[in-house]
Amino acid sequence: MIFESHAHYDNPQFYKDREALFKEFPENNIQYVINVGADMRSSRLSIELAKRYPFLFATVGVHPHDVGDMKEEDLERLIHLAAYEKVVAIGEIGLDYYYDHAPRSIQKLWFREQLKLANELALPVVIHSREASQDTYDILMEAKLHNEHNLDRPKGVIHCYSGHAEMALDYVKEGFMIGIGGVITFKNGKKLREVVEAIPLESIVVETDAPYLAPEPYRGKRNDSRYLKYIIEEIGKIKGRSPEDVEDITYQNGKRLFFD
Ligand code: NI
Repeated sequence: MIFESHAHYDNPQFYKDREALFKEFPENNIQYVINVGADMRSSRLSIELAKRYPFLFATVGVHPHDVGDMKEEDLERLIHLAAYEKVVAIGEIGLDYYYDHAPRSIQKLWFREQLKLANELALPVVIHSREASQDTYDILMEAKLHNEHNLDRPKGVIHCYSGHAEMALDYVKEGFMIGIGGVITFKNGKKLREVVEAIPLESIVVETDAPYLAPEPYRGKRNDSRYLKYIIEEIGKIKGRSPEDVEDITYQNGKRLFFD
């Protein structure tokens, strides 16, 4: 069984055929899907999808692209949304210095505030970080995430991990999962392959980030969870394990991260 740890099925690219696509998930072994919120609207839409589909769970949070006009009241709204039983994490939240859609000081401010919220609600976090490895790491460490009810549960996932292997190992040591997606199949994915080589399979969750970042042989096309098998195969090759092993272990990892 496959655990999809990061997708955006509320995206308009799925409006037309979402229903038909979801019907194909069972025969493709897709057991669970985490639909990730990225602003107030998509957080609400994620919950709507979770209400409609038993296999789908939601996260709520505001992505660094969209924190520019975030307000104090939005934190209250997030608390309210997170109260729904199928909300399993806060995210995606973090820092994006590649696009810099919002000033960095504002990005850091709302990243910290949303981490505080996750801590108060004892929820794991889904982290987005682009060209901001060190600041992301420092802010996450300073947030001292913990879950007093379950000290063994992972603290969160570094989604679409793009840093180097050494920092990935530090994250693993600190109780984070590493999200591996389509980039692992790309010709220029050498750095990420080194990451997968370095970290234990027990710290990896698989993700599409659908509709973005489709793996080879579909690079550039719309992505969806059926393509996770290409990512799983590639991880298996790197780790010298069968695709079945990778599927099973990352499935357990996803459950530990979001459902424990
Ligand atoms: Ni995403």
